[in-house]
Amino acid sequence: MPDNTFYITTPIYYSNDEPHIGHSYTTILADVLARYHRSIGQDVFFLTGLDEHGQKVQQAAESRNITPQEHCDDMAPKWKTLWEKLHIQFDDFIRTTEPRHQEVVKNILTKVMDAGDIYMDEYGGHYCVGCERFYTEKELEGEKCPQHGKELEFITEKNYFFKMSKYQEALIGYINKNPGFIQPEHRKNEILGFLRQPLDDLCISRPKNRLSWGVELPFDSDYVTYVWFDALLNYVTAPGYLGNTEDFEKWWPQAVHLIGKDILMTHAVYWPTMLMSAGIPLPKKIFAHGWWLLGESKMSKSLGNVVDPLKLIDEYGVDPVRYYLMREMVPGQDSSFTVESFIKRYNSDLANDFGNLLSRVTNLMHKYFEGKIPDWGESTPAEDKMRENAESTTYIVNELMKSMRINEAIEETMQFIRSVNKYLEKQAPWTLIKEDQSSAGRVLITASESLRIGAKLLQPIMPNRTKTLLDTFGTGNAELGWGQMKPGNTLKKHNQLFPRIEIRKNFES
Ligand code: MSP
Repeated sequence: MPDNTFYITTPIYYSNDEPHIGHSYTTILADVLARYHRSIGQDVFFLTGLDEHGQKVQQAAESRNITPQEHCDDMAPKWKTLWEKLHIQFDDFIRTTEPRHQEVVKNILTKVMDAGDIYMDEYGGHYCVGCERFYTEKELEGEKCPQHGKELEFITEKNYFFKMSKYQEALIGYINKNPGFIQPEHRKNEILGFLRQPLDDLCISRPKNRLSWGVELPFDSDYVTYVWFDALLNYVTAPGYLGNTEDFEKWWPQAVHLIGKDILMTHAVYWPTMLMSAGIPLPKKIFAHGWWLLGESKMSKSLGNVVDPLKLIDEYGVDPVRYYLMREMVPGQDSSFTVESFIKRYNSDLANDFGNLLSRVTNLMHKYFEGKIPDWGESTPAEDKMRENAESTTYIVNELMKSMRINEAIEETMQFIRSVNKYLEKQAPWTLIKEDQSSAGRVLITASESLRIGAKLLQPIMPNRTKTLLDTFGTGNAELGWGQMKPGNTLKKHNQLFPRIEIRKNFES
C-alpha cells in the first residue's frame, strides 16, 4: 500500500569532508521524520551514505599517498560513527564505490545512450574543483566561482553530453502539475525562474587523463562518469533498481529527498531530466532546507569555522543537540548557530519547562504517594480541559510532522507542556493534599499523563531522554492516546532529565 510507505533520503556526503553541524542537521531531520513515520505505523526506508568519487577524493588520496579506495574505506567509518553517536537509525548506508551502485550507473548510462540522449562534443568552460562542475559565463561572478570565490581555470576538452535541454519543457510541465514536487514554494519559483532561460546540456564525462577516480563509461573506457550523474543515482540503487523490482516499486514513488539549498539545481533540474530520459518516474518530493550559519557567517571547511557535532554531543548530550537543531531551524530559511542560543534554548525549554515538570510530579508522588502513581479519581472541568488540550495538541503535532514543519510541532508541544505546568501551579496538589488526598492524586496523575503525551510527541526528536521519562512511569510501550497511566505503578528512579547549564565558556574558543 503506497500510502503506508515512506522513503526518505539525505544527500550522500562527500566522504573526505569533515562531518559538521550542517551535515548532521539534514541527517537528524531525516531520522526524526523516519522515526515519526515508523511511529504512526508506516513502513519506512531511510537512506543515507557517501559520495566517494570525483576529483576531491582523488586529490585527498594523492596527498596522503594512498589509493582513493583506501582513502574512502578510511573515511566511511568516521561518518558511520558520527551517525551512531547521533542515534541515527538508517536502513541503508550507500557508498558510491559499491559494485551494486556502479552497475546501476552503467545501466542507466546505457539506457540514456540508447534513448539517443548522449552525444560527444568539444567543450570549453570554467571548472571549479570544489564544486566538481563547469560554470557557464552567466553563472560566474567575474572569473570566480560563486560558491567558493576562487578564480577558475578555463579548460577545453572532448566530452560526452546529456541532452538535458530536450527535457526542459517536460520538466516545467511536471513542476507546474505537481505543486508539491519542489518545496518550499520559493525554491520551486527559483527553479521555474531558472527554467525560463534555455537549458544547457550537461557534460557527464571526465577524461581519465584528468580524472580516473569514477565509474567508467560503459561505452568509452577513456572516460569516467561525472560525479553528480553518478551520485544522484544512489537514490534508485538503494531501493533496488537493479535488484528487487518489487521493493523498488514499493519505495521509489514515495521518495522524499532532503537537501540543502546549495544543491537544489542538481536535484531539481539534473536529476528529474536524467530520470525522464531513463524512463523512471520522478521522486515524490524534493525539500531544500536553509543553511546553518555560524553566528552571521557561512560555515565552511575552508574558512575553518565548522562546528564539530561530536564536541557538542560530548559537552551537552545527543538529545539536546537534536532538539536544538530541530527547534531552531525554520525549514527553508537560514539559521544562526551560537552556543549562547543553544544554552538559552536548553535551559528554557528542556531544563525549566520539560525536565522540571518531571521532577516536580515525581517528587510529589514520592512525598505523598509512596512513589506510586495515584488513582484517577473523579475528573473536574480542569482535568477535562487537560485531556482536550492533549488531544488537540496531538492532532496538530501530527499534521505538522506530516508536512515536515518540525519546529512548529515542537513549539506546539512545548506550549502544551507549559500549560501542564500552569495546571499544576493552579491546582497546587501540595496544598490540596492537606485536606483532600484523592484530589491531589487526581491532579498528579493528570499532570503525569499529560507530560507522558508531551514526551511521546517529542520521542522522534529526543528518543533517549523521552525513553527515560516514559520508563519512569512504567509506560515505555504505551500508546499515544490519553489514559495509559496505570494507578499503583511504582515510579522508577531517574536522574534529573535536563540539568541546567551555566554559560561558563565559549564553545568555539
Ligand atoms: N555530495 C554532494 C551531494 C550529492 S547527493 C546526490 C554534496 N555533499 S556535501 O557533503 O558537500 O553536502 C551535503 C549537504 O550538506 C548539502 O545538502 C548541503 O546543503 C549540506 N550542508 C553543508 N553545509 C551546510 C550548512 N552550513 N548548513 C546546512 N546544511 C549544509 O553536496
